[in-house]
Formats: sequence, structure tokens, C-alpha cells
Amino acid sequence: MKKDLLSIDDLTTDEIHLVLDTAEAMREIGQRPIKKVPTLRGKTIVNLFYEASTRTRTSFEIAEKRLSADTLNIAVATSSVLKGETLADTAMNIEAMAPDMIVLRHASSGAGHLLSRICRSRIINAGDGMHEHPTQALLDAFTIREHKKRLDGLKVAIVGDLLHSRVLRSNVLLLTRLGADVWVSGPPTFVPHGIERFGVRASPRVDEAVEGADVIMMLRIQQERLNGAFIPSLREYFTTFGMTAERVARARPDVIIMHPGPMNRGVEIASDVADGPYSVILEQVANGVAVRMAVLYLLAGGAEGD
Ligand code: CP
Repeated sequence: MKKDLLSIDDLTTDEIHLVLDTAEAMREIGQRPIKKVPTLRGKTIVNLFYEASTRTRTSFEIAEKRLSADTLNIAVATSSVLKGETLADTAMNIEAMAPDMIVLRHASSGAGHLLSRICRSRIINAGDGMHEHPTQALLDAFTIREHKKRLDGLKVAIVGDLLHSRVLRSNVLLLTRLGADVWVSGPPTFVPHGIERFGVRASPRVDEAVEGADVIMMLRIQQERLNGAFIPSLREYFTTFGMTAERVARARPDVIIMHPGPMNRGVEIASDVADGPYSVILEQVANGVAVRMAVLYLLAGGAEGD
């Protein structure tokens, strides 16, 4: 694998399959009474999160601990970032202490690329602004493959705030590469111009997008990134694009409902859908640990790193 994982485009198709296959083996470790292997003993991993996170930060930390790495969480709120230190200076100072990997979440698109240029450590993008969230797309693919046994030929409907979503970008790159038929739907203000160039079909009608879908992936309304009036009201948004049981009924009988979290219940998804029999939302969270163990293991050199 490349030195860093910043984008799904950093992975070949074979490497994507390798991550998913390795995650199967990693999941077995999490089912043992003692959930720990010595694979990354002696490696130091810094989790540098400039943006809020529940799932990604926790699952990286659990993954690192299960692989016996020495892990360190930088709490930006109590670091010298508050005194005005730049991302580059913070990274260079962390580098001076010789970590092996830095897991970075940042509000700016491309923040991981900056660290990649100036750091010897391997950089894993844990979400950069509106750009990408590659490990989320990998865990989503793992979850779909677990339920459907394939990705090729599946109809995947991705619905919501497409414009501000790094989850969308990484999933479109990954799912189209693996042969899925990807549909997207959202209000015109939330649909990136020219999105069809990425090999997806865009529909302004959510009912068309979910018709016969094997997978429905809901995206969060990113209120922290909305700068202006994108939608008339949250209530109208739910009426027009929210995932309700009536809309789910248009999909295949064995559809799975996904959401990367955090969810806005009653805005992009109804509670009875989020908690209902088709929902695999908490499975996505559980699979995040195994997939991130696989990414850490493979970036560290896989079997050669043992
Ligand atoms: N899916 C996701 O990135 O969730 P967090 O923001 O909680 O990490």
C-alpha cells in the first residue's frame, strides 16, 4: 500500500478487496475473550482530531489497542492549537517525537495532504472537511458485502446532503469502482454540479432513487457546514427527502438501511426506520473497528510488519 491513506483513490481495487478480507480476520480477534494481538507492538499512533467525533475516534483507538500499538489522543481543546499554533507546526512537533502513524480529522479539505507532504509518519485521513472519509467508505463496503455477499450490480441509493458530505465522495469512488449502480438524490442545492461525471445517476425524486434499491444510505444534514439557506425548513426537508417506512417499502424486500452517523432523527431519517428491522447502522459502527484494524495493520506493512 501507499505510505498514506488519504483517499479511496490511494487504493487499487485489489487493495480494497485486501482491506475487506483482512477486516474479516480482524473481526475474529474482537470476538475472543482476550481481544488483543501483538501485531503493532512497539508502534506509536497519534490520533489528532480537530473536529468532533464519536465513532471514528473511538473505533480507531479500540483498533489500535487491539493491535497492541501505543496510542495517544491529542485533545485539541487543551493543546497549543488554542494559542494559535498552526496545523503544520503542531504536526511537525508531533513528528519530532517519532510516531509511526497519525490519524487526522480536520475541518479543512486537504489537511491530510498537507501532513502527508511534511511528515515521515504514515497519515490516515479520518475525515477532512468536505473531501473524503476513506475508512468510513471501507466499513460501509464491508457491511454491504457482509449482507449481500457482493457489491457488483447492487443498486445503492445515497440520499441527503450530498454537497457537504465527505462520506458521499469516498463511497462514490469505492462503490463505482466495485461495480455498484449508484443513485444519488437530494434537493438541488445539495447536489454537487456535474456529479454524474463520477459515474452515478442523480434524481431529484427520492422515490425514484430508492425504487428497487438493495441499499439505502442516508446522509446527515450537516448543519455546521451550512452557510446560507439550502433548504426552506427541516420539516419540509423531512417531508420531501426524509427516509420513512413508506419510502423504504419501495426498495427491495431485503434492503439494508445505512447511515454513517451522527443521525438527525426526524430530519433525514424517521426513528422507526433508524431502529427498524432493515437498519444496519449499529453494525456499521461495529465493523468500523475491524476495518480500521485492517487498515492500520496493512499500512504498517502487513505480514512484513509482524
Ligand atoms: N461516521 C463518523 O465519521 O462519525 P463520527 O463523526 O462520530 O466520527
